[in-house]
Amino acid sequence: MSESEPARQASAPRAPAMDMHVHTKYSDASIAVAQLVELSQSRRLGICVCDHNEIRGAIELYERNEIVTLPGIEIGSAERLEFLCYFNDPGSLEEYFVREVEPYKVNRYYAKLSKSFTELIPAAKQYGAIVALPHPFAPGWKNFNFNRKRKEKLLEPSFLEHLDLIEVINSHIPDNRNFKAFLLSEILDKSVCAGSDAHRLSEVGSAYLSFGAMLTAAQIFDLLKKRIKVGSDQRFNFHRTVGTSRSVIMSHIKLYLSKRDQERWMLRYDEDVAYDPTTMPDRRCGIDRRRRERQEADRRRKDPPS
Ligand SMILES: [Fe+2]
Repeated sequence: MSESEPARQASAPRAPAMDMHVHTKYSDASIAVAQLVELSQSRRLGICVCDHNEIRGAIELYERNEIVTLPGIEIGSAERLEFLCYFNDPGSLEEYFVREVEPYKVNRYYAKLSKSFTELIPAAKQYGAIVALPHPFAPGWKNFNFNRKRKEKLLEPSFLEHLDLIEVINSHIPDNRNFKAFLLSEILDKSVCAGSDAHRLSEVGSAYLSFGAMLTAAQIFDLLKKRIKVGSDQRFNFHRTVGTSRSVIMSHIKLYLSKRDQERWMLRYDEDVAYDPTTMPDRRCGIDRRRRERQEADRRRKDPPS
């Protein structure tokens, strides 16, 4: 590193918000690190580079010390489950990468290692990482509920404690699935994060965690280790913008968070069965309940009881 740590802290850049999930040319995106610096400075946005099983972009961005960033990586395990790791310093990320990730790369798949997430996630914690579950309701193998074995392992209480954050807003995921992620964070009582998952420059900043204060990366890292719940702390707000529109479209989350609506949603949750972590949390979502009711009404209409 070109600068001592105290000197770096003294001159540390600050930002009021951070996009916590961005990819670069070092994995499967078209974004150069220099472009991220330029965009970050013009929009006062912190950016975390989390490339697929790759750290060069994250390290390069950190070492420039021009914007607020946390060294990060998006790990793809042997089961193709993806999770994000944020580190406080690039040395820990490098060590984790060299020992736990690089030797297990699979030639044909950039987003897949030959190692299970059951080993990779606890190992990341050993290096001081904050671990986030991104896009938990993404289609296909990225879904945390992709198969029974994966879900059961993830929801096992002894394993669940290794997960710190649930990514409740991801710009590549439809709002209804993001909302399920938010509900999952409530059920599992986990802190939350948000990121664009940008692969093109125009997508960067389309989802971000907002702090309501100018913070350094070290301060953000400390805050991430504490409890962050949507609506529980006025310093945190979640925003998402789509395309060129700057309008905040996550107002529905805020709506549900007003006391009355939160109670309404929690009541809907409790209408089915008492929560059991081995059952599908999303099955208990009001959206699915209404779909089942519609199907039942259709069935009755077609086949009226005699
Ligand atoms: Fe990603």
